[in-house]
Amino acid sequence: MNLSVYLARRQQRVNSFLEGCVPATLQPEKLAHAMRYSLLSDGKRVRPILAIAACEAVGGQIARVLPFAGALEMIHAYSLIHDDLPAMDDDDLRRGRPTNHIVFGEGMAILAGDALLTEAFRVMGEATARAGGRQGAAVEALVEIAKAAGAHGMVGGQVADISAEGTVPDLPMVEFIHVRKTGALIRAAVRSGALLGGARPRQLQHLTRYGELIGLAFQVADDILDAEAPSAFTGKNTGRDRERQKATFPAVLGLPAAKDHARSLLADALETLVPFGPRAEPLAEIAHFVVGRAC
Ligand code: IPE
Ligand code: IPE
Ligand code: MG
Ligand code: MG
Ligand code: MG
Repeated sequence: MNLSVYLARRQQRVNSFLEGCVPATLQPEKLAHAMRYSLLSDGKRVRPILAIAACEAVGGQIARVLPFAGALEMIHAYSLIHDDLPAMDDDDLRRGRPTNHIVFGEGMAILAGDALLTEAFRVMGEATARAGGRQGAAVEALVEIAKAAGAHGMVGGQVADISAEGTVPDLPMVEFIHVRKTGALIRAAVRSGALLGGARPRQLQHLTRYGELIGLAFQVADDILDAEAPSAFTGKNTGRDRERQKATFPAVLGLPAAKDHARSLLADALETLVPFGPRAEPLAEIAHFVVGRAC
């Protein structure tokens, strides 16, 4: 299969859905501008595409998962805006452009993030209300995403991340942070797609493991890219984790061992897909893409 064609088609579907979630006509206009600036800018759309690919891997249809895929990207966009704030990572470059608070000011950036998070749940709630006979799966997917975004997942991980700054990290600490701040939402993307696609329990089990492995690999790869990839490639400033003394895999293991670890997570993730045959090819390709960018 051709991954770039697969990704481009699904990115398009996701982008046009997102366009409708936060219309340019939304008032106040300032808020619409700030939300759209981050939501519609040039990201990889990995989380929504994982949800779609997991749904397709179990024979489900894209239309059913699209609102949840869009909501995952809205939650992700909010998390990036807040992650870049001066009180958190204090970054001025994201997706090759000035960060939200640099353009709109801190107050507006905080509120744009708040609104994206809240609107994500509006979008999922509306889709759940319309889900008819599949309402049970929609509720399950919504709760799954809520748990992964909140205190037990991403927010908890972000707290651990900023608390760990300047300390001497060890492997269990970095794993604790990464599994939550990044792994949880990626796991939920895969699981919600599978649930909405009608996965059987055994399929859900395999895909959950895939989501966990690729979720952790994703942040290990992000750490490696932060350490050595040029800004033109990542769209972010290079070397920020070292400057801020962040708890990262390269900080604990060194770069070569961090890369070995990412590759071994990839190998394990691919193993979980074997029972699905060719239907899981996109999931396998996405896993290669995520780790291959860094190693
Ligand atoms: C960046 O996520 C933040 C992390 C969780 C590592 P992505 O690498 O998915 O960023 P975009 O959406 O493509 O910009
Ligand atoms: C971010 O981790 C995780 C989020 C929940 C946003 P990072 O702080 O490493 O993400 P980048 O490198 O700024 O994208
Ligand atoms: Mg951060
Ligand atoms: Mg950051
Ligand atoms: Mg990073």
